[in-house]
Amino acid sequence: MTQKDIERLMESAECALGNAIAPYSGFKVGAALMTHDGKIYTASNVENPSLMQTMCAERIALYKAVADGYGGRIEAMAIVASSSDRAKGDAVAPCGSCRQLIYELARDAAIYLKSSKGIKKYSISELLPEAFEK
Ligand code: THU
Repeated sequence: MTQKDIERLMESAECALGNAIAPYSGFKVGAALMTHDGKIYTASNVENPSLMQTMCAERIALYKAVADGYGGRIEAMAIVASSSDRAKGDAVAPCGSCRQLIYELARDAAIYLKSSKGIKKYSISELLPEAFEK
C-alpha cells in the first residue's frame, strides 16, 4: 500500500465517522478497510436505545465485506474516533471484541490508528497477543 492509499483509507474512515449514531456515548468512530483488490468498505458505530445492540464501526466494516461476498485478504484497516484529536494525543484503539474479529477475518491487515500526532501502524499481533483460537 502506498502512503496515498493509507491517506485515502483514513479519509474514508473519517467520512464514515460522520454517519455515526452515538447519542448515548457521544463517541463517534469511523472505520474503513481495504481489500486485496483495492475495494474500500466503510462503517461507523451505531448505538441503540437497547444498549446491548450497539455495534462498533470496525465490526460493521468487517461484516459488510463478508456479507458482500468478499472472502480474500484484507490489506488494511483505518480507524478514527471523534476524540482522536484529544489533548492526550493517543489514538483510539479497537476494543477487545473488535480485535478478536480482526484476528479472525483480517489477520494480515495493517491497522492504522489516527491521533492528533498522526497515523500509526499496528499489526493485530501487537494489539492482541495470545489471541483466542479454537
Ligand atoms: N466503539 C467502536 O465503534 N469501536 C471500538 O473499537 C470501541 C468502541 C463505539 C461503541 C460505542 O458506540 C462507542 O464507541 C462508545 O463505546
